[in-house]
Amino acid sequence: MPTAIVIRAYGDSDKLVLEDIAQPEPGEGEVVVLQTAVGVNYHDVYVRSGLYKTLGLPGIPGCEATGVIESVGKGVQGLKPGDRIAYVTGGYGAYASHRILAATLAVPVPDSVSDETAASNLLRAMTVEMLTTQVHRVKPSMTILVHAAAGGVGRMLCQAAASIGAVVIGTVGSEAKADIAKMNGCTHTILYREVDFAKSVAALTGGAGVDVVYDSVGADTFVGSLESLAMCGHLVNFGQSSGPVDPIAMSTLATKSLSVSRPILFHYLQDPEHYQSMAAKVMQNFQSGVLKAAPAIPIALKDASQAHDTLENMTGGGSLVLIP
Ligand SMILES: NC(=O)c1ccc[n+]([C@@H]2O[C@H](COP(=O)([O-])OP(=O)(O)OC[C@H]3O[C@@H](n4cnc5c(N)ncnc54)[C@H](OP(=O)(O)O)[C@@H]3O)[C@@H](O)[C@H]2O)c1
Repeated sequence: MPTAIVIRAYGDSDKLVLEDIAQPEPGEGEVVVLQTAVGVNYHDVYVRSGLYKTLGLPGIPGCEATGVIESVGKGVQGLKPGDRIAYVTGGYGAYASHRILAATLAVPVPDSVSDETAASNLLRAMTVEMLTTQVHRVKPSMTILVHAAAGGVGRMLCQAAASIGAVVIGTVGSEAKADIAKMNGCTHTILYREVDFAKSVAALTGGAGVDVVYDSVGADTFVGSLESLAMCGHLVNFGQSSGPVDPIAMSTLATKSLSVSRPILFHYLQDPEHYQSMAAKVMQNFQSGVLKAAPAIPIALKDASQAHDTLENMTGGGSLVLIP
């Protein structure tokens, strides 16, 4: 019997409950996927808690997974039962053993990329692709600051920027995470809960500041991120792991002609051709070794609450996968 995690009320991780669901049948342009590994993202925590009210209740959360195509609906071309695919979707429904998926979202997974790696990292790696090539193109001459540099997105962001040749300064919550960040391309690391990171950035850059700050931490770092920017710098706030950012006055930006943006991956994936080309580039980057995913930590789908607790305890790292 197919099963899924169904959220019936917003709240703590105990609201993630496994239920039986009906056997899905594909409609026109759809495929049914027998899922083998499901990615867990911080976004899922916000969906579950009710911070984002983007999933109608009752609903099945989850934005990415890997699996094998079980059946195809009318009009689907280029996909057949048995094909190994992965996907990212803002339409949710990934925390399940089986699901219906729009065929346009199915991305072929190369043999060298495991189900677990694709399931737990496609969304994060596509986020890195968006951040470094579309939101602010990273160039070899740049110095950038990456917060939570040992996290799932953080470490791949450091890998990508270092492979381009940028100098990467990473903030981290512990010495152990500093080692991880350095292994993933950080030139310098800062223990941002122990020191004033903006002062450290000033010291490391001779007072100039950095060209770009990639900030997924939000509330705790936003003000220091603005302080860390060079003249005409760009603060890319793409997450809020520590809480939402307070409003700011436009005049704050005028002090150094700064810009701030708040990108969301799903908005960059609206066009199916663009989605497929970004996904293909990411798969290529995993194959070539430009991107290296953290080793996967498998957790049974029925224990999804454990995975959410791990993320909220700051011990994530982008490697959690639910196994149906
Ligand atoms: N905009 C988008 O489209 C998009 C796409 C993907 C992800 N994101 C966002 O990017 C962020 C990172 O995602 P991820 O998958 O890399 O998560 P992750 O691996 O769990 O990393 C999050 C890290 O943030 C740091 N952190 C600082 N304050 C925290 C707090 N109060 N609670 C929890 N963690 C805190 C922790 O590292 P330290 O211990 O080193 O501080 C933690 O390990 C999330 O906010 C996520 O929503 C946004």
